[in-house]
Amino acid sequence: MTAADAARFITNDSTVGMSGFTGSGYPKAVPQALAAQIEAEHAAGNPFKVSMWTGASTGPELDGALAKANGIDFRLPYNSDPIAREKINKGEMNYFDMHLSQVAPMAWQGFLGPLDTAVIEITGIREDGSLIPSSSVGNNKTWLDRAEKVILEVNSWQNEALEGMHDIYYGTALPPHRLPIPLVQPDDRIGEKTLRCDPGKIVAIVETDSPDRNAPFSPPDDKAKAIAGHILEFLGHEVKVGRLPASLLPIQSGVGNIANAVLTGLIDSPFEAMTAYTEVIQDGMLDLLDTGKLRMASATAFSLSPEAAERINRDMHRYRDKMILRPQEISNHPELVRRLGCIAMNGLIEADIYGAVNSTHVMGSRIQNGIGGSGDFARNAYISIFVTPSTAKGGAISAIVPQASHVDHINQDVQVIVTEQGLADLRGLSPKERAKVIIANCAHPDYRPLLEDYFTRAQKQSYGLQSPSILSEALSWHQRFVETGSMLP
Ligand code: COA
Repeated sequence: MTAADAARFITNDSTVGMSGFTGSGYPKAVPQALAAQIEAEHAAGNPFKVSMWTGASTGPELDGALAKANGIDFRLPYNSDPIAREKINKGEMNYFDMHLSQVAPMAWQGFLGPLDTAVIEITGIREDGSLIPSSSVGNNKTWLDRAEKVILEVNSWQNEALEGMHDIYYGTALPPHRLPIPLVQPDDRIGEKTLRCDPGKIVAIVETDSPDRNAPFSPPDDKAKAIAGHILEFLGHEVKVGRLPASLLPIQSGVGNIANAVLTGLIDSPFEAMTAYTEVIQDGMLDLLDTGKLRMASATAFSLSPEAAERINRDMHRYRDKMILRPQEISNHPELVRRLGCIAMNGLIEADIYGAVNSTHVMGSRIQNGIGGSGDFARNAYISIFVTPSTAKGGAISAIVPQASHVDHINQDVQVIVTEQGLADLRGLSPKERAKVIIANCAHPDYRPLLEDYFTRAQKQSYGLQSPSILSEALSWHQRFVETGSMLP
């Protein structure tokens, strides 16, 4: 049926589970039709808002359209849409930013309430009724299982050769019946190639032919290249001293341009037969696969530039054997990240001198995106690395601050911090030792003397000397930025 007819199954105040993860595999037609329906109801003076659950970020046709229509009352998890971000930061939309591996289990545990409708993009429907997933898996299995009604978008833009790439694990259960997940290598297949769906629940099937969001990556700038260089040197050293094998351990690489630059940097590295156990497959990973340096990659979604999407579509048969897309509760599962010993590399907004990391909130209160999978990986990784340029907004903000204005990753989950200035290896160091290394190696020269001065005075004035702090000054840099537009005095 048409998207407009399908959207009528979604009513005011209902909860909708949408497919979609980092701009891939999200429904494109029904959300826009729903946004039009919401706008018409608002124009007629009627209330109309929904609660929306997704895999992670989606695209302008989904988050953007519904946020613009003032149609989202509550949303979870990760969002990167600028219109939705604005609504959240204006207090007009409730946003529950949670660990991505925990979304499906929490839905099953009943903690999130009932799910009325699932709207899922797929590549096709097989004769036996099973569904061929598209360019992301995310929480689709859980939404299909939990929802009362199902709306399918069959997108012919998605490559039919995707069939066979996915691995949908149906063995999860609730405590006390939970069992170990039988995955011991990144390339293990433990599930099914397609999604199951009770045909009795399907109320609408809509055909589409629309591309994923596929945002372009900016080519690595000098800072990103410098950060990549520090990480490669560090990993090389770890191999040399025997703490990492020559093929490294499975790589997890976060979202964003810097993460992509690190992957690009690995092309010229001495490491061979690498693997990735990660959340998203970015452009840099395709390049690594092409060179043969990367043997295979496991993730839950693609997050590609338009050129890379075209490349992968042209050659899907070849890539399909080297890639596995899994539900996000498996791609990000703490048990598996710990067992495999992932090398986690994630971006940050700011880190403090003791190594606590803020990944989400600018000036402690304004959400940028969300924690995404960074917590799933950072806490459980073999080595947990965080990367950032040393300053933001043309130097007006230092990424290294006396105290983080919001904390997503506690000191214990942060082992290495890297900026273009250098790398701080924090493993085995006490808070005061960490502060010295972070200030010396990672802070920008404009801010380094200020941090040194703060840390010296804190060691004289602090109430306690385990993690010295001047309480009245610890967040003064943020306050100064809010008042003057710069953290510099
Ligand atoms: N203060 C204010 N703004 C800051 C900032 C700071 N300390 N640090 C970064 N920003 C802004 C940048 O200016 C930029 O803004 P713009 O889009 O208006 O130009 C934006 O945040 C993105 O920063 P950028 O330097 O381009 O880095 P990035 O693309 O690598 O993103 C994060 C960095 C932290 C926002 C991103 O990595 C993220 O959302 N992380 C959390 C989720 C995560 O780690 N997921 C991966 C798990 S698998």
